[in-house]
Amino acid sequence: MNKPKALVRVAKDKQLALFYGEKTKEDAAEASVPKKRVQGGIATSDILQSAHIGNNADLFPKILDLHVKPGAVIADITYGLGVFWRNIPKNKYALKATDLKTGVDFRKLPYEDGSIDCVVLDPPYMEGLLRRNTKHLGGVGSYHAFRNAYSNGQGSDGEPKWHAAVLDLYFKAGKEAHRVMRKNGVFIVKCQDEVSAGKQNLTHVEIINEYAKLGFYAKDLFVLVRTNNASVSRLLKQVHARKNHSYFLVFVKTR
Ligand SMILES: C[S@@+](CC[C@H](N)C(=O)[O-])C[C@H]1O[C@@H](n2cnc3c(N)ncnc32)[C@H](O)[C@@H]1O
Repeated sequence: MNKPKALVRVAKDKQLALFYGEKTKEDAAEASVPKKRVQGGIATSDILQSAHIGNNADLFPKILDLHVKPGAVIADITYGLGVFWRNIPKNKYALKATDLKTGVDFRKLPYEDGSIDCVVLDPPYMEGLLRRNTKHLGGVGSYHAFRNAYSNGQGSDGEPKWHAAVLDLYFKAGKEAHRVMRKNGVFIVKCQDEVSAGKQNLTHVEIINEYAKLGFYAKDLFVLVRTNNASVSRLLKQVHARKNHSYFLVFVKTR
């Protein structure tokens, strides 16, 4: 049976187009129809979420799992009592643990430029832990264990004072971390907002803004909520919400 003329023409057009590497009208029409996207992946609720009720030792390993490859060289520059590392297997990362208490000031780290994959920073986050006179340091009496864990137990070197002293440490540590980190390295920073001298200071915002100037992109943010209730010893009139949360900020060195 003879093919209709129109069909024969289409077939010839196709052969010619193939020969010359061109598209026929039909191919062009087909290409213009959007293809249905096939989505990969699986449905799951087993994902890391941004807000947690718990403690540092629970949340910190999960942040590393998400953002830092096993075997990475990690410098924890405020290692303190090593609480962050309590639930992490010993050989999972190449950990370099330092602290002022063991003689390494994070403002002058003993590492080559661009040599570290990840830096972890958790300095004293309350101005009360950075007073010039050690007798005026916060965390006295029954709170001395808290003070010993969170501050270096020494007075600050004078200027700047109060909340500015807290920021000064974060900013100087950020600059030094930037120096020792490789490009695309990860910088994990623990912080908490504070009310100082009756004024609200959103420390996490101040850090994010300053670090952006240094070349850090704020890739992730975790909120950690305390499990126990916060209390106040001498409350006259409440002015600000009592903070029962802190942050882990995750930065990437982009330049
Ligand atoms: C909040 S604690 C760190 C707790 C630690 N992340 C842990 O898991 O135990 C703050 C630490 O910062 C340290 N520190 C304060 N100023 C420092 C500085 N200039 N250089 C290095 N470490 C400093 C203190 O000695 C203290 O151990």
